[in-house]
Amino acid sequence: MEERLQKFLANQGICSRRKAEERILEGKVKVNGQVVTELGTKIDPEKDEILYEDRPVANQMEKVYILLNKPIGYVTTVKDQFNRPTVMELLKIHGKPIKTAVVPVGRLDMYTSGLLILSNDGDFIYKITHPKHEITKTYQVTVRGSVTKEEIEKLKQGVDIGEYITKPAEVRIMKIEEEKGISRLEITIHEGKNRQVRRMCEAVGRKVVALHRSKIGDMNVKDLKLGQWRYLSKREIEKLL
Ligand code: URA
Repeated sequence: MEERLQKFLANQGICSRRKAEERILEGKVKVNGQVVTELGTKIDPEKDEILYEDRPVANQMEKVYILLNKPIGYVTTVKDQFNRPTVMELLKIHGKPIKTAVVPVGRLDMYTSGLLILSNDGDFIYKITHPKHEITKTYQVTVRGSVTKEEIEKLKQGVDIGEYITKPAEVRIMKIEEEKGISRLEITIHEGKNRQVRRMCEAVGRKVVALHRSKIGDMNVKDLKLGQWRYLSKREIEKLL
């Protein structure tokens, strides 16, 4: 059903109707790729693609896909039994929680930062998390001490993380900082066991001191600061699948 653009934006929790009118007049809103500055513009939320400041606006009737750059200190859950801050608290538009009930797709530990996807599309969540799809996940890992070539070889081939031998992984030394007593690695895995990267490093005697997921498949979070999020475009979702 058609409705006025400013009403639609306000109903999506993007901003107030008056603010929406200002943004439309400023040329910040696109409908099907075209800037619209006409306040009388009517749109059909089921057919038209609306971009607010170049970001897709999630339509309540549509499936929603969110890309979050998770900071450390937040748990990846909808509600935490110990009342710790959850990633859901970061999903706000102009200070108000988003209206769509999304859930995290997979998990990052409380003290891991980086790329996290959230969605309300059950099929999508199933596909992304199912091991048979082997979607790659890349991590920037800081470990204590100077890693050796032997340790990297072991990590590449697979290590015992306790009743499980990890599958082959891509592992690169990015930098060894002897003066700081740390090594920086990039590890890409094709599976996702609980705390896998930390346990892999522990298996070769290295303690992880910082962990950041920089990529899922080809997708990265370079355009987002820690704590920021955005909707994924249709193209990005298709590419991921
Ligand atoms: N591996 C871990 O150890 N922790 C994460 O959060 C993700 C991968």
